[in-house]
Amino acid sequence: MSNKNIQSLRGMKDIVNEESTLFTYFVDNASAIAKRYGFSYMETPILEETALFKRSVGESSDIVNKEMYNFIDKGEHEVCLRPEGTAGVVRHFVEKKLDRAGGTQRWYYYGPMFRYERPQKGRLREFHQFGCEVFGVDSVIEDANIIIMIKDILDFFEIGFKLQLNSLGDQNCMPQYKESLVQHLTDFKAELCEDCQVRIGTNPIRVLDCKNETCQAKLIDAPKITHNLCESCDSDFEKLKEILDFNGVEYEIDTNLVRGLDYYSKTAFEFVSNEIGAQSAIAGGGRYDRLVEFLGGRPTAGVGFAIGIERLLELVKMKETKEDIVYMGSLDEASLNTVLKAANSKRKTTKTLVEYTPRGFGKHFKLAEKVNANIVALIGEKELNEGTIYIKNIDSKEEYTLKLEEF
Ligand code: HAM
Repeated sequence: MSNKNIQSLRGMKDIVNEESTLFTYFVDNASAIAKRYGFSYMETPILEETALFKRSVGESSDIVNKEMYNFIDKGEHEVCLRPEGTAGVVRHFVEKKLDRAGGTQRWYYYGPMFRYERPQKGRLREFHQFGCEVFGVDSVIEDANIIIMIKDILDFFEIGFKLQLNSLGDQNCMPQYKESLVQHLTDFKAELCEDCQVRIGTNPIRVLDCKNETCQAKLIDAPKITHNLCESCDSDFEKLKEILDFNGVEYEIDTNLVRGLDYYSKTAFEFVSNEIGAQSAIAGGGRYDRLVEFLGGRPTAGVGFAIGIERLLELVKMKETKEDIVYMGSLDEASLNTVLKAANSKRKTTKTLVEYTPRGFGKHFKLAEKVNANIVALIGEKELNEGTIYIKNIDSKEEYTLKLEEF
């Protein structure tokens, strides 16, 4: 066996120190906002049947085609590490027959997702998403609601963004649009990139967001999706824009925004930042009114989004919230038990760190400084006999003793 040190896999990383502090800070505050919007937390397994993503994200998508971590497990099942969170949540919804229950479901989740992409800044093979999904609301008021909620989250962390918006139409207008797009593209087929030549046959609207310059040039005169919406999709899109205007949410229409997952219909959107490099999408989402049906349920409207946590953390700065940190120690062996007991009761309200080795005052103050404590609380022979505790407030430099019960 080789003695080579084992390292984390390419595109995967440990989240520790400042980043893990920021990570929990983000998740705690984003969760609090989601809860205020009526979402409750759910967790789905990281491993799912591969077929789940083939049927939802779509066989023609890059995610399913090129990027899935799929394998055959010991029971001969084709399984994969989830590349995104929506499909699992919909699987749960259908599996638990919630499509028959009626009413509305609002769930939020966060956790790791896996895509075998070429790693670069902002693009990992294991990354984390914070997402929300809503079922049973067939109205763009909900689309606006979740866009406003993402804005609330980004505003909380003081993150600047641009919102790009599009409507992809539905089963009435999308097929016709695809046909006219194919007609337009067929004339230039040979000039398109290899992927787009295939996409013409599998999912032509994916040509719209191809990054290849030649493909983009051929799209300048292509028919625009928003000019080809049926009456109901068109009026929904107008209504969505109206609500966003009324709520002061700025956006730009990007008729080439189709998103890399096949399940969207009508609203599609992306929040981008120009401060984090080429991988600029910090959140993406949209409406998926056919997805419950694709996975075997009764027709149920759905809409949701996911934020890429690692990309967002590049932009999150912690707000200064001064939290008390109490450092406790004993001046001799005999006092240690009393210190431990007092620390356990202090911890019910305050962050309390304990040094287990008895030490002199000077050493305790040095250690307290290292852990950024602002209150030092020590017990030695004198305090033990008197039933007191010595306190120093590091900020005000005040020193005093308290009865143990008062502490
Ligand atoms: P998505 O746009 O594929 O959508 O991913 C959402 C976000 O995850 C992206 O905007 C980006 O911030 C982050 N992300 C994606 N890939 C990577 C990567 N390789 N490395 C780092 N971050 C990444 C979805 O996944 C949909 N499920 C969103 C949704 C929920 N739509 C409706 N409901």
